[in-house]
Amino acid sequence: MEHNIGHLRKSYEQDQLRLQDIGDDPIAFFHLWMNAAQQHPQIEEANAMSLATVDSNGRPHTRVVLLKAYDAEGFVFYTNHNSQKGRAMAQNPKVCLSFFWPALERQVRINGSITMVDVPTATAYFETRPRGSQLGAHASNQSQEISDPSELEKNLKELEARFAGRSVPMPKHWGGYLVKPDEIEFWQGRPNRLHHRVRCRLVDQKWNMSYLAP
Ligand SMILES: Cc1cc2nc3c(=O)[nH]c(=O)nc-3n(C[C@H](O)[C@H](O)[C@H](O)COP(=O)(O)O)c2cc1C
Repeated sequence: MEHNIGHLRKSYEQDQLRLQDIGDDPIAFFHLWMNAAQQHPQIEEANAMSLATVDSNGRPHTRVVLLKAYDAEGFVFYTNHNSQKGRAMAQNPKVCLSFFWPALERQVRINGSITMVDVPTATAYFETRPRGSQLGAHASNQSQEISDPSELEKNLKELEARFAGRSVPMPKHWGGYLVKPDEIEFWQGRPNRLHHRVRCRLVDQKWNMSYLAP
């Protein structure tokens, strides 16, 4: 191939991962790893995650979105319901999330199905967003073709005038998705590519943990 980047290689040596580290609650363990990522000076946007969806033709798509809340119920992000991902999730609720925190040599992968966040909860979150982001949610028909990005600036100016002096309501086409996990895999990089992997599977409301070969 024209561009060979096979020399890019890093040895992972920082930590290890054992079943007893995770215990019986993978969400609590995720919380520990998420806190470590947030506190790490070399990690920006620890909450950025790849979201994979599958559209009605069976074609997969990934893109980055921001995790905004999580607990034993699942993992929440916000987006435009009419976007490519919104349309895909309306057809197929199964999604996959993945985090990669290079400075910690860690990856987390979460499989599950989405449900919609209720409108009052989404509205409460929308109201915490900066006004510019609130207007932006109105200004952009996410994932639609546009003739030029200047269209968006024009939309924004019109919206600034329309909502001048009052709060910006949450658009009907915008809201949150809760990913209810049924499988969570934790990956810790190790020397010689003998990484440590633990898969947590939800069976009859109980998490079962196994090591996986790297
Ligand atoms: C760091 C980062 C964070 C992002 N966060 C979000 C988000 O929380 N929600 C969102 O709709 N798009 C977010 N995006 C944009 C998406 O990656 C994507 O471009 C957009 O949602 C349209 O995706 P779609 O056409 O596949 O629906 C983010 C992008 C990056 C790089």
